[in-house]
Amino acid sequence: MKNVADIVAQKSKGRRITVLTAYDYPIASFLDEAGIDIILVGDSLANVVLGLKSTTEVGMKEMLYHTGAVARAAKNSFVVADMPFEAYQLEGRLAVGNAQQLMEAGAKAVKIEWFEDCADVASAIVRAGIPVMGHVGLTPQTAQDMKVKAKDAPSARAVIDQALALEESGCFSVVLECIPQEVAEVITRQLKVPTIGIGAGPHCDGQVLVVHDLLGLFSRYQPKFSKKYADLGPRILEAVRTYKKEVTEGVFPDDAHSFHLPPDEIKKLRSLIE
Ligand code: KIV
Repeated sequence: MKNVADIVAQKSKGRRITVLTAYDYPIASFLDEAGIDIILVGDSLANVVLGLKSTTEVGMKEMLYHTGAVARAAKNSFVVADMPFEAYQLEGRLAVGNAQQLMEAGAKAVKIEWFEDCADVASAIVRAGIPVMGHVGLTPQTAQDMKVKAKDAPSARAVIDQALALEESGCFSVVLECIPQEVAEVITRQLKVPTIGIGAGPHCDGQVLVVHDLLGLFSRYQPKFSKKYADLGPRILEAVRTYKKEVTEGVFPDDAHSFHLPPDEIKKLRSLIE
C-alpha cells in the first residue's frame, strides 16, 4: 500500500504521479490493479454518479459511503477522499472531525479546495495527523463559473500564493485545476511537494482525470482538458438493448443459464401438487 512518503518521493525521482477518481468498488478495483498511484473519491461524485448539478450538493453521508466502497478495493493505491463543501467551508471548526470520519471510512488522506480560510483549515487537519491534499485554480465548490482561472498576471500571482500557502500549511500535494500551463509550471517549480494537474498542462508532477470522462461514461459534457481513452457508453447501450430484445423474444434465459430439478424430484413434486 502506497503512503504519503512514496507519493512525495515520486517528485524528486521524476516519476509522474497517476491519479484517477473512483466512487465504487468495481472501478476502484480496476484502478488498483492497473497500478494507479492515487484513487481520489472526488466530490465530482455529485455530477457523474448522482446526477446532481453542483458538487456542493453532496455531503458527508455520501462521501463516507463511497469512500468505504473505494477503500475496500484499494490494495496498493493511496486513497484520498474529497472533503465536501459542508464538511469545512461552512464552519471551519467541523473540519478536523469530518476529516477524521473520512479516515475512519478508509481514506488515507483528504482533499480540500481553496477558500478564504483554507490555509488555517488545512493546518488544523494536518496537526491532527491527517495528510491533506490542497486544490487551487478552478475550485468548483465556490467557483462562479467553470472557466479557466489565473488568465492574467495578478490572478496567476494569487493562485501561486495560494499553492505556496497550502504547502506552508503542511499539504503533501496540491491539485492545480484549469489554469494555463505556464502558471502550473511556475507552481510546480516553486513547490517542494508534488502538483497534480487537471487542465493545467504537462509540467505538473502528476495528472488527475475524472474516470467517467476517461471511460466515456458521462455524456452531459466533456471538458476540453479531459481525454476519452474508451467509449463505453455506446457499448453499455448495445448490451442493454440486446438483453431487452432477448428477454422480449424469449431467447434469454436459455438452458445454459437455468437450473434443473433432478427427474426423481420432478416426480415427487408432481405427486405433491396433483
Ligand atoms: O472531485 C473531483 O473529481 C476533483 C478532481 C477534478 C480533482 O476534485
